[in-house]
Amino acid sequence: MTDILLVFGTDTGNTEEVAEKVRKQFSESGHEVEIMDVADCSADRINEAVICIFGIPTWDFGGIQGDWEDFKEELETAELEGKKIALYGLGDQFGYGDFFIDSVGWLHEIIQPMKADIKGYWPIKGYEFTESRALSLCKTFFYGLAIDEDQQFELSGERINAWVQQILIEFELEKLA
Ligand SMILES: Cc1cc2nc3c(=O)[nH]c(=O)nc-3n(C[C@H](O)[C@H](O)[C@H](O)COP(=O)(O)O)c2cc1C
Repeated sequence: MTDILLVFGTDTGNTEEVAEKVRKQFSESGHEVEIMDVADCSADRINEAVICIFGIPTWDFGGIQGDWEDFKEELETAELEGKKIALYGLGDQFGYGDFFIDSVGWLHEIIQPMKADIKGYWPIKGYEFTESRALSLCKTFFYGLAIDEDQQFELSGERINAWVQQILIEFELEKLA
């Protein structure tokens, strides 16, 4: 079994709910995912995992969820070179359209210089927002899946399913299932 670790932080539960849905999709493809609250995580556990999925919401006008912010120093001690990582973020595109899923950009800014092998970039098509720190250089992709439970909850299920299928291929996991 590939050691797949999903680490989430949350203030009101949405990012954890998405974690469970991601796990369910992986499980339907024959892969187990361990879910862990970032408050309980360690650099050692990240080092052990073959694949990491990080889930993070954005709060207070581009602010970083507290447990993730507390974990930053520990994360910077992990060995991420070549580590397969995918990101997803929770946000509210209409309420906070100048800061939509900014925390995903923050995480990307930490792990990319550490030479992580980051997959799961997600097209911005279908979202309405003004600015995001999570945009790729060409500005047509987010650095990870964007989920908006506040404004587009009806799209979350299909987005999660499509993204999991995408990262299964990008991580070359579909061959093992
Ligand atoms: C006071 C407040 C501030 C927020 N700030 C942002 C923000 O800056 N950017 C964003 O994309 N979403 C923002 N949101 C939306 C949350 O990220 C969203 O509700 C998310 O689903 C919360 O995830 P959680 O339940 O895992 O904490 C904000 C929500 C509230 C209530």
